[in-house]
Amino acid sequence: MEKVALVTGSSSGIGYETALALARDGYQTFASMRDTSKAKELTKAADNEKLPIRILALDVDKEESIVDAIKEIISDIGRIDVLVNNAGYGQFGCTEDVTVDEFRKQFETNFFSVVRIIQEVAPFMRKQGSGIIVNISSVAGRMGLPGSPAYISSKFALEGLGECLRYELGMFGIKTTLIEPGVIKTKFFESMKISDSKTDPKYKQLTDKMLAGFKMMVEMGSPSSQVADVVIKAIHDKEILPRYIVGTDAAMFMEAKNSKSDLEFEKYMSKELFPA
Ligand SMILES: NC(=O)c1ccc[n+]([C@@H]2O[C@H](COP(=O)([O-])OP(=O)(O)OC[C@H]3O[C@@H](n4cnc5c(N)ncnc54)[C@H](OP(=O)(O)O)[C@@H]3O)[C@@H](O)[C@H]2O)c1
Repeated sequence: MEKVALVTGSSSGIGYETALALARDGYQTFASMRDTSKAKELTKAADNEKLPIRILALDVDKEESIVDAIKEIISDIGRIDVLVNNAGYGQFGCTEDVTVDEFRKQFETNFFSVVRIIQEVAPFMRKQGSGIIVNISSVAGRMGLPGSPAYISSKFALEGLGECLRYELGMFGIKTTLIEPGVIKTKFFESMKISDSKTDPKYKQLTDKMLAGFKMMVEMGSPSSQVADVVIKAIHDKEILPRYIVGTDAAMFMEAKNSKSDLEFEKYMSKELFPA
């Protein structure tokens, strides 16, 4: 029987590499993206390796687009074995500067879309009595930092959802996991949105400092293929773990977080972020 995978946000970065990795692993892979004119590079890579990849239009912000995409897969092949919720972007700016509308949009793409897609896909996985849902979270979903509260809160929400799904979908034989990358070299930095600074100039200084640090980290960031490799490892694990950390930076921060009290960790991160 043909194994089927669906990846959101496959036009670049982690989604692009994960779609290729799943196809190399034998999955008939639906590489979805909101703008299919961005599929040229992926199509070329798939053709070169003769990989079973199909490009599918899917804008995760649009309910109709989600419904249509899932319908297309089910009417063509009748099943979905692996779903990778990857599409996302980062909204930067301190809390007082980020409008509620910007917070909402961030949650729409990074969180509510995941809920909607799962609500469309899970009924088929329940019928199958199997399936794996991989949610691309972030190490930023485990620790608060200044300058990107909208992004970080959306990933915290995804982490909470991920833990709930393990129990709920687990009853039906559906496995779920969270992938928590550190800084990965992708178009994420170019695609991020920065809120207008309209309150205290100190907020702009702080956001700019965080962005400059992040930019430096991106240049030294891990490749997207490292995340894709972890996705493949996760779906093959005999017992899929609740979460997988990707990258030495993420591992280092999580180690500090797990070994310290909340207050100790806050002091440690302050020193890391703002050395005297
Ligand atoms: N890069 C990092 O350091 C890092 C670290 C931890 C977690 N992550 C997470 O990894 C995921 C992928 O990001 P990336 O680093 O690979 O960045 P990326 O190269 O910018 O890729 C983001 C992907 O999401 C897509 N996307 C955004 N909004 C969408 C929408 N409404 N509908 C459908 N697709 C949409 C983008 O499509 P377009 O090309 O159309 O914009 C693109 O394909 C995100 O969830 C991000 O939060 C990234």
